Amino acid sequence: MTTSPESPVLSVEALSKSYGSRKVLDAVEFQVGRGERVAVMGPSGSGKSTLLNCLAGLDRPDSGQVRVAGEVITQLEGEALAHMRRRQVSTIFQFFHLLPTLSAFENIELPLQLLGVEKMDRQARVYRLLQAVRLDHRMHAMPDELSGGEMQRVAIARALVHHPDLVLADEPTGNLDSRTGEQILDLLQSLADEFRMALVLVTHSQEATRICHRTLRMMDGRLDESNPP
Ligand SMILES: Nc1ncnc2c1ncn2[C@@H]1O[C@H](COP(=O)(O)OP(=O)(O)O)[C@@H](O)[C@H]1O
Ligand SMILES: [Mg+2]
Repeated sequence: MTTSPESPVLSVEALSKSYGSRKVLDAVEFQVGRGERVAVMGPSGSGKSTLLNCLAGLDRPDSGQVRVAGEVITQLEGEALAHMRRRQVSTIFQFFHLLPTLSAFENIELPLQLLGVEKMDRQARVYRLLQAVRLDHRMHAMPDELSGGEMQRVAIARALVHHPDLVLADEPTGNLDSRTGEQILDLLQSLADEFRMALVLVTHSQEATRICHRTLRMMDGRLDESNPP
């Protein structure tokens, strides 16, 4: 679906979700524009991952809507949801989630394979991303031969290789030492700029907010625009 330049890439309306009697998301609303990076902060257990999973279509809210590139993903199911996720939304996680039996190259190639991109085109695009994350010399390495920072660089390349509209990252530096974490943030910033991708960055590190245009704060299920400390 095409959208006008002004329409947001991500639009969240009255998103609510409870576990038992506990309201984890309470009428959450926000929008993210093309090329915009938004940090979501909040204490552990405040619902950040639940929110991200609902945005990714990995989890279902009890009520409310998530619209990505104009399409209401909270109403999609089955193959339509899977297709939307393959095309428009990428996720980056704290523990990388690489497929252990595939090399760095093959992990990055996977989203293009799922989209049916032809082999020559696939290889050129994977190589281009390997260079962007400075891992072209490690392309044949298996995940268990890579450091944490290298695994996250593969995960970032995999998340961006098909130019999704929206990238969702859940504590992407949470399992890295601070210097490596800094490098990962710089990389995310420069690639998100280059590809004009919208990024929602869940983090409990104030440091990570420096690469974002806005910071939102989760508190008691509500999401509020936060003022700088
Ligand atoms: N599948 C689940 N079943 C029951 N409670 C859950 C489930 N997932 C998360 N929770 C609870 O929801 C709250 C928010 O969790 P989460 O979204 O993981 O927070 P955060 O990512 O901010 O640490 C926590 O109290 C957590 O225990
Ligand atoms: Mg979490």
